[in-house]
Amino acid sequence: MRVPILDLTRQHAPLRAEIDRAIARVIDSGRFILGAEVEGFEAETARVCNAAFAIGVSSGTDALLAALMALDIGPGDEVVTTALSFFATAGAVARLGAKPVFADVRSDFNIDPDDALRRVTSRTKAILPVSLFGRRAEVERLAESGLPVIEDAAQAIGAPHLGRGAKMATLSFFPSKNLGALGDAGAVLTDDPKVADRLRLLRAHGSKPKYVHHVVGGNFRIDALQAAVLRVKLPHLAAWNVTRRANMERYRTALANDAAAFGLALPEDAPGHIWHHFCVRVGAGRRDALKTHLQERGIETEVYYPNPLHLQPCFAYLGGKPGDLPGAESATREALAIPVHPELDAAQIDHVIASLREFFAVQQ
Ligand SMILES: Cc1ncc(COP(=O)(O)O)c(C=O)c1O
Repeated sequence: MRVPILDLTRQHAPLRAEIDRAIARVIDSGRFILGAEVEGFEAETARVCNAAFAIGVSSGTDALLAALMALDIGPGDEVVTTALSFFATAGAVARLGAKPVFADVRSDFNIDPDDALRRVTSRTKAILPVSLFGRRAEVERLAESGLPVIEDAAQAIGAPHLGRGAKMATLSFFPSKNLGALGDAGAVLTDDPKVADRLRLLRAHGSKPKYVHHVVGGNFRIDALQAAVLRVKLPHLAAWNVTRRANMERYRTALANDAAAFGLALPEDAPGHIWHHFCVRVGAGRRDALKTHLQERGIETEVYYPNPLHLQPCFAYLGGKPGDLPGAESATREALAIPVHPELDAAQIDHVIASLREFFAVQQ
């Protein structure tokens, strides 16, 4: 039996005719950049995410870049962020000439707010937590610092209260995300009309009207084609997230009693966690053996993330050393994402459970 980590073909099959019609609508309109399709997508996304404004951009990476630019972050500034995330989180800070200051994570993989707040200095311009794997970071706690918080919510669309306490929240519609485009796309959410205006300016080279450039922005616009496809998929997001939760519960129920004896840590549930990834932890150097065991049984898994950000070669100039952030470093050695996507069927989940049991039975 094959259990892929992602099954977009299965996801798109029942929506295919509607997606085809949406694509045809854009082609027939002849309008591929911004326009009514993007405006419709932005209004619908803002509504689903409980935000006053959603500004469609070209990717989750560009959403981060635009959000940081909207706060005028640049050389000499510091941004406190997590050491455990996809590279884009820290890359966006460094690309603007600012310094990413890495904080450690707790056992739930999210930034430790105490550690983050300890790293605030007079140069800190913003805090950039990530709601990792679909679980909200403690954004409100971080906002008590008085600093603007940008919530990297690339993995948490659909989580209730997303963006609460944050100046902006950024989304990615990378195909594998809980709401995925057919290519790259992203958005920035905000409740602040001035910030929304600035983001619209920044995504179009800072120009308004055309050819009058108030600030140096970029080409960060979402494609109308992606916006049209996302409008087809958006109404299904809530149901997909419910199914992800049901899949998570099936794993947790089946394994809860034996996990401790197995030396397997199951991810804790939390209110509003929308389970982008279901990352178990196995200690004592067994993670890679577990990955191989599951692979031999047709089960795809992923390591999120094999390297903490403070030890990436491109950040060597910041002086990070092994041992600096033990929470993030142990996560990179122990965490393994097993399939939890909504297209899984019961037989596939049972196969994963049986294969996990088989691994630990042999190991004991
Ligand atoms: C936490 C996080 N931040 C940022 C990004 C960047 O998004 P994108 O791939 O759409 O540029 C991703 C995903 O890819 C992500 O998982």
